[in-house]
Amino acid sequence: MSEEVLIVADHPVEGSSPKGGAISIWTLNRPDKLNALNSDSHIAIKEQCLRVESDDNIRCVVIRGAPPQIPEEGGKQKPPAFAAGADISEFLEKGSDDVRPFFEDNAWEAVWNLSKPTIAMVDGFALGGGTELALSCDIRIASDRSTFGQPEINLGLIPGGGGTQRLCRLIGYGKTMEIVLTGGMVSSDEALSSGIVNRIVPFRELEEVTMNLAVEISRKSPYTIRVAKRAVRGALDLPFSEGILMERSEFVALFDTEDKEIGVSSFLNRTDANWLGR
Ligand code: COA
Repeated sequence: MSEEVLIVADHPVEGSSPKGGAISIWTLNRPDKLNALNSDSHIAIKEQCLRVESDDNIRCVVIRGAPPQIPEEGGKQKPPAFAAGADISEFLEKGSDDVRPFFEDNAWEAVWNLSKPTIAMVDGFALGGGTELALSCDIRIASDRSTFGQPEINLGLIPGGGGTQRLCRLIGYGKTMEIVLTGGMVSSDEALSSGIVNRIVPFRELEEVTMNLAVEISRKSPYTIRVAKRAVRGALDLPFSEGILMERSEFVALFDTEDKEIGVSSFLNRTDANWLGR
């Protein structure tokens, strides 16, 4: 790989149990191109998804964009970005046969399919594939200077990283149509009121707020967290009555886990729960 398009750092979580818990922070690192996702970015993200899935110590993933660099003298200061989309330069003179294999095995689905919680920490532009990457995460925390949108219509395209589907399920049909059909920019305030993001915070507090949330989640039982994510996810796929049955079955099965016994007795004894993760 010619440049390190994704910087990965695993941060230990104090007080996690079982011990050794860590939050994996992935930084999209093409700030000169507003962290646009190119083929290498997809490969790197997919590799990390495989690694994180097989590493019991990783309790949560945070995805962010690298901040803009200070320009050389006379150079233009780039704006902050989570990711300004798929790398448009890779689209030129490509036909469907060229792009199909790539889009059939992409980073958005790899992130979406992780069994562990994922948080998008958005500061600046999250457009097109950038919004879609944020939508592939479970939770979105954005700075007050963030902008979302699906501008693909302006390129003669539509969202191809799950945007039409995940956005519609998240914020509903009418608002999704407006965003996809106009390709317009969505301010952080509008992203909050429409439900695209969970929270907006002043940009200087973004990292602290996001990491506090990641730590909070990482201190729960990793086993129960996986079940909880699976159960909520089921609501997207299953008819309501089947979803209720699925949830009940997951809930009942937890009564055979050691972590249920630990959680309940810790509450009754007013002690901290030391999870076993099973
Ligand atoms: N793919 C490839 N390169 C991109 C990009 C993308 N999606 N988004 C931004 N860039 C590059 C620009 O080409 C530019 O590169 P350069 O400095 O080498 O010329 C650099 O990032 C900075 O972008 P620029 O357009 O100069 O910044 P700006 O502040 O004037 O505008 C945006 C910011 C986000 C409004 C604008 O870059 C934009 O509209 N980007 C495309 C968004 C998009 O359509 N995404 C969906 C893709 S499917």
